[in-house]
Amino acid sequence: MMNSKVLEAFNNQINAEFWSAYLYLSMSADFDNKGLEGFAHWFKLQYHEEAAHALKFFDHINERGGTVRLQPIKEVPLTWATPVDVFEEVVKHEQKVTHFIYGVMDIAVQEKDYASQNFLRWFIDEQVEEERIATTILEKLKRVGDRGGLLYLDKELKKRV
Ligand code: FEO
Repeated sequence: MMNSKVLEAFNNQINAEFWSAYLYLSMSADFDNKGLEGFAHWFKLQYHEEAAHALKFFDHINERGGTVRLQPIKEVPLTWATPVDVFEEVVKHEQKVTHFIYGVMDIAVQEKDYASQNFLRWFIDEQVEEERIATTILEKLKRVGDRGGLLYLDKELKKRV
């Protein structure tokens, strides 16, 4: 049986993870429209990763007999001016998600929900990785600047599996 405050926080986090999935799918579409297939591919995989994050919360609630409450997913932006703008938004967004996860952990600690605290540790580690990857790509993008460099990076990102 899940604590009701923790359950509410978990349900809100399902929505936040699906919103992230939508955001990255929209970024994938925008890159695809601009002919940058490697970036589009990278963001499509990122979409799947976020949907998997949402499902981890979904499964945890179900395993513990809680009620999943799927909430409406707010609209996401459709287009960005430059790849640097995209990754600046990704870095900011992932920092926000880290903040959300810490908030959920705070509630699990307050409510002495040890099973949820264990579950959330994976997400705390995952956010370190998410922020690191997004920041690294942003730094590379800021360096390449010219068209050739951008196309090289596009080719590199296409290799993600
Ligand atoms: Fe599910 Fe990128 O955080």
